[in-house]
Amino acid sequence: MTDLKGKRILLGLSGGIAAYKAAELTRLLTQAGAEVQIVMTAAACRFITPVTMQALSGNPVHSDLWDASVPNNMAHIELSRGCDAIVVAPASADFLAKLAQGLCDDLLSTLCLARECPLLVAPAMNLQMWGNPATQRNMKQLREDGIAILGPASGDQACGEVGMGRMLEADEIFEEIEAFFQPKLLAGKRVLITAGPTFEPIDTVRGITNTSSGKMGYAVARAARDAGAVVTLVSGPTALAAPRGMERIDVSSAQEMYDAAMARVAKADVFIGVAAVADYRPKNAKPHKLKKGTGDMTLQLQPNPDILGTIAARRKAPFCVGFAAETENLDAYADAKRRRKKVPLLAANLAQHAFGADDNQLILFDDKGRHELARAPKLELARALVAHIAKLLPKK
Ligand code: PMT
Repeated sequence: MTDLKGKRILLGLSGGIAAYKAAELTRLLTQAGAEVQIVMTAAACRFITPVTMQALSGNPVHSDLWDASVPNNMAHIELSRGCDAIVVAPASADFLAKLAQGLCDDLLSTLCLARECPLLVAPAMNLQMWGNPATQRNMKQLREDGIAILGPASGDQACGEVGMGRMLEADEIFEEIEAFFQPKLLAGKRVLITAGPTFEPIDTVRGITNTSSGKMGYAVARAARDAGAVVTLVSGPTALAAPRGMERIDVSSAQEMYDAAMARVAKADVFIGVAAVADYRPKNAKPHKLKKGTGDMTLQLQPNPDILGTIAARRKAPFCVGFAAETENLDAYADAKRRRKKVPLLAANLAQHAFGADDNQLILFDDKGRHELARAPKLELARALVAHIAKLLPKK
């Protein structure tokens, strides 16, 4: 089950070289089970053909305000009714200016004006056009009008210049659309999350770590962000891309993770410890590469600080959520861990199914007992966890 299954999305394309990304976006939306209706301006049709967009959306493409094939000849009304959202990607400087002024001289601008549903736009233009005070005035107006602005991003531009104004990638726009439909259960909350493994150095090139990929923690961070929270993600070493729209602090060892979390916890309403933090680190890590000896070697370990335990014990502790990965006796060990760490909520998973996997299965333990979340992609579980947290948060 995806969040966009059954959603009716009208995807509008105005003229811009980024129109090619709309093809991939259409594919992502239809794969997620959304019903996609394409509307293109005349300029958009010069960058990408309606045939491509029809093939990918599985629906006829509309671009004419005077379309006699629409029964009542009012394509702008007909198409904008019953949509869950209109997304304009790419939204050119010209199109955004028209929206800001309420102009409607073609099908796409007219149906945007006639809409009853939310409108999301993904600006795409040259950096000077984006930075121009006229465009910035228009963007301010659009924000005030309640239109969601997706991006733009900074980077290489088709014209050869580098800077702000390039349209987000298709997968980023897709993520933003998914986020848009999430209930804002954590609006106004600040959430601090640890994710991934830690790396405890033995010498300058070796260390102790574990197989946490960071996927569960990043999914929780994304779910919290999509639920409207301001998220800070303290991440151990992972291969995952930094999620958009949150602060990410990269750390390596448990001590660094502890320091980063402690420096930020005072401002947090919620702390979620998803990281697989090493309980011990080598004593006296060597500042050079250890030489091979002849016999056995003993590695002496010393305990790491307990991040979750320390945060939960604070006088003004945020709402604390722990994770527990166990290979057996999941219920008993997890519940005992929740009591030992004195946290109101703990999510337990089987280590052999959780580490590195895309799917997971969670059992949530709180004061009311256990709540099973069936096997599902980590993002789906993370959204369910966030909903559970929102229910338990003290009402102000
Ligand atoms: O990253 P993935 O590949 O997606 O895998 C996800 C996961 C399996 C790592 C995750 O779902 C998970 O279970 N994380 C907790 C792993 C664990 O067993 O933690 P623990 O039992 O060592 O610690 C219990 C809790 O205390 C955790 O919330 C942990 O973050 C926290 N802790 C532990 C030790 C320590 N020094 N400081 C801590 O804050």
